[in-house]
Amino acid sequence: MQRVAMAANESTSSEAAMRLVIDEICAYTGWPVGHAYLVDTARQELYPTDLWRLDLPAEHAEFKAMNMAARFGLGVGLPGAVLRDRRPYWIEDVAQDAHFPGGRTRSGLGVISSFAFPVLVGKEVVAAMEFATGTRTPSDPQLLDIMANIGTQLGRVVERERASELLESRVAERTRQLEAANRELSQRAIELTAINTELESFSYSVSHDLRAPLRGIFGFSQALQEDFGRRLGSDGEAMLDRIKSASQRMGRLIDDLLGLSRVTRAEMVRETVDLSAMAREICTELRKLSPKRQIEVNIQPGIAAVGDPRLLRVLLQNLLDNAYKFTSRTENARISFTCEETEHGPGYIVSDNGAGFEMQYAGKLFGAFQRLHSLKELEGTGIGLATVQRIVHRHGGLVRAQGAPGKGASFQFTLGTQGAK
Ligand SMILES: Nc1ncnc2c1ncn2[C@@H]1O[C@H](COP(=O)(O)OP(=O)(O)OP(=O)(O)O)[C@@H](O)[C@H]1O
Ligand SMILES: [Mg+2]
Repeated sequence: MQRVAMAANESTSSEAAMRLVIDEICAYTGWPVGHAYLVDTARQELYPTDLWRLDLPAEHAEFKAMNMAARFGLGVGLPGAVLRDRRPYWIEDVAQDAHFPGGRTRSGLGVISSFAFPVLVGKEVVAAMEFATGTRTPSDPQLLDIMANIGTQLGRVVERERASELLESRVAERTRQLEAANRELSQRAIELTAINTELESFSYSVSHDLRAPLRGIFGFSQALQEDFGRRLGSDGEAMLDRIKSASQRMGRLIDDLLGLSRVTRAEMVRETVDLSAMAREICTELRKLSPKRQIEVNIQPGIAAVGDPRLLRVLLQNLLDNAYKFTSRTENARISFTCEETEHGPGYIVSDNGAGFEMQYAGKLFGAFQRLHSLKELEGTGIGLATVQRIVHRHGGLVRAQGAPGKGASFQFTLGTQGAK
């Protein structure tokens, strides 16, 4: 019987364990009836289960039917006594015992002796096992002790089952939460993409539509100057000049905005790009624009990157443009393009020893139309670094600026390691 207790303890489910215990106890005692009840915790009563063993089915059919229809509250019947007192009971003659109010009827059902024991989880009765026979059998205290032990082992199985059910339900709950969060995130991503696309096409069409009236302003100012210039006098002509140059500048701003928008909208390809060669070409062109300038250019050879060649060219063009522009008043101007390892992969650096800037404004430079140097000092619309940042972000990288007034500036960017957007 100790072996039964151990086997029960090794069962995977409490139902399997109880079935095994019923079979083994019936086999050991030679009793023909075994049955399990479960506890309805809310109502504090035992209700019958399908776990039955009937070796003489015809003889005990009515006994089974009667039990299947019954429920046993605290102290009601043998199962109710077990539930109330949390200990085994043995009844030699059910017809004589107080626990069987309907005992006489029962003895007519082929049952004379009966015992039952609780399945305990701690002090809580979670089930009861009941056995019966038609042969009068005196109480066997030693056997009852073993039954109590089996009840405790069964309780362990129930306890384990409960713990794993709890764990499973927690895991399921957590999974549900994660899935919901995921769904929300992808929904957000879809919404954001939609909003971005909308914004992009809005700014694109606005910029586009602004061009026509702007051409009108420029064209009619020009016509006015040509046809009526003399009548307007020199003050009037000067004003028209200012209208014309303002509209030209606005035209440049619009073009740059469209360029920025194109950078965001363009399809990306990814290939290996020789950035050193690209930088050399750009610098050769820049030199041609101001051939008289003395400027030392250092380009580290063999710098390669994986990215979109067209966008990377726009990026380098903007950084080198700036380096040229902001060293235009520097003696012994120097510009360099180098590469060094960073924690986010290779960091590409364009630096110069030009005008520099106050570090406190370093973050602002990347906003569209943000400029630290006045127009009178140096030309520009302030869209270059915004473009640079967008290109870097589309490659999954980061860009940052460093500088000090009069000491030069350096711009470092990374291009991410994978998955360009
Ligand atoms: N190499 C640099 N040295 C010093 N300041 C710089 C340098 N590069 C950029 N800046 C500062 O950042 C501002 C923004 O640069 P950005 O390239 O966006 O605009 P821009 O060069 O003025 O105009 P655009 O590039 O649109 O023609 C510049 O106006 C300047 O104040
Ligand atoms: Mg620029």
